[in-house]
Amino acid sequence: MIKKHLNTQEFLWVAIIFWSASFTAIEAPFSFVFKTKIQTWQLIVDAIISILFILDLIYHLKEAKKHKDKTDINLNQKKWLFPLMLTVDLLACIPFDLLSHYLGHQDLFTAFRLLRMIRIIKVYYLIENITIVPKIFKMQSIAVGCLMVVNWIACGWIFIYPMTADTDVTTYYIRSFYWALTTLTTIGYGDIVPHDNIGRIFTCFIMIIGVGMYGIVIGNISRMLASADRYKEQSREKINDLLMFMKHYKIPDRLQKAAINHYSHLYSKRLSENDEKIIADLPHAIQHEMQIYMKIKLISNIPIFQECPHDCLKDVSTHLEQIYSSPGDMIINIGDLGEEMFVIAHGNVDVILESGERVATLHDGQIFGEIALLKEIKRTANIQSSTYCDLYKLTKKSFNEIVQRYPILLSNIENTTQRRSTDKTPTSSSNGK
Ligand code: CMP
Repeated sequence: MIKKHLNTQEFLWVAIIFWSASFTAIEAPFSFVFKTKIQTWQLIVDAIISILFILDLIYHLKEAKKHKDKTDINLNQKKWLFPLMLTVDLLACIPFDLLSHYLGHQDLFTAFRLLRMIRIIKVYYLIENITIVPKIFKMQSIAVGCLMVVNWIACGWIFIYPMTADTDVTTYYIRSFYWALTTLTTIGYGDIVPHDNIGRIFTCFIMIIGVGMYGIVIGNISRMLASADRYKEQSREKINDLLMFMKHYKIPDRLQKAAINHYSHLYSKRLSENDEKIIADLPHAIQHEMQIYMKIKLISNIPIFQECPHDCLKDVSTHLEQIYSSPGDMIINIGDLGEEMFVIAHGNVDVILESGERVATLHDGQIFGEIALLKEIKRTANIQSSTYCDLYKLTKKSFNEIVQRYPILLSNIENTTQRRSTDKTPTSSSNGK
């Protein structure tokens, strides 16, 4: 089954329909068994829910027509279910409370209102098939689902043993709810017991449902708790695998430390250990576009890009090429011709003058190699990796084209360069912005 991805507005709509359907699914059987007189607030709520259901039906019919499939309407793509569910949907849209208020026959209309309950199944089915459901909503839906089931069972009990004149609605409902809950959870205190065959059969049935429901609720909650710490668990597993691998291949200590440091850095920032791997199975065109957005995210935090328009970031990202360097590698040699500038994605590099003096250490999110490109001069310093580095390279040609298009970027880079050329005093670690 293909899962659906919803944007925030679509998800909010699902949440609204969920709450409307849940309210109906709890209130409809209650009104049915107690045959309570319809109140004004119920008429208003009934009208609102009918409007929401009509809008939802129109929306799903439109969607189904647009995508030429009926998955939103049809529970599991069986052709015969479509007209059936459509009929239930249409019936659920009818404001039965309003009709009974104006036409009378409350009993008949209240029975019809029960059909609205079936809508909740569709809503749960829809939630199950959404790719990302916020945890808080998932928990709410489990809690409301449990409440609904207990309420239905309590109403079933009231239907079998109707309320007598010597009690009131609240007391009788609470009593029935209490019976339903203790039976469902198989606690069964035995203070309220069925006293005829129908009641006993109903109770057996509820006890069987209780066992299944227990499993579903416990399973869902433990799945949620497990996934909450999935990230930590994943990183722990990854580091253990890596340690075993390095031990097996007798990797030198220096390299082992670097690899572990690398993971610690990524996990401390809660980044994926390999973003590329996550998207590796996607078609190349989609991967390519996603990589551009990954780079946009990276460079958007860099001071020189901060006031640049999105198009500029996209332009730069499209031309960035990823390269790697190891500790001690010379990335730029003083006096060379400048053919590219660099962005540090991860790692540290030292800026070393001809005298051997280290004037700055640049780190994640900083750039270097821009002076030679801007001023059309030779490299002004050596750049040496002091750690393993993930870098992005922008060629001189792309750099020139982009800064021509976006003068704001040019002036930001010029300011950085200006600051750097006046900051040639030896420091152990400069932010080199
Ligand atoms: P470029 O001259 O092309 O190559 C060497 C790079 O070192 C230079 O561009 C700057 O990006 C960088 N650089 C030079 N001096 C400093 C400094 N004082 N602080 C930070 N970076 C510098």
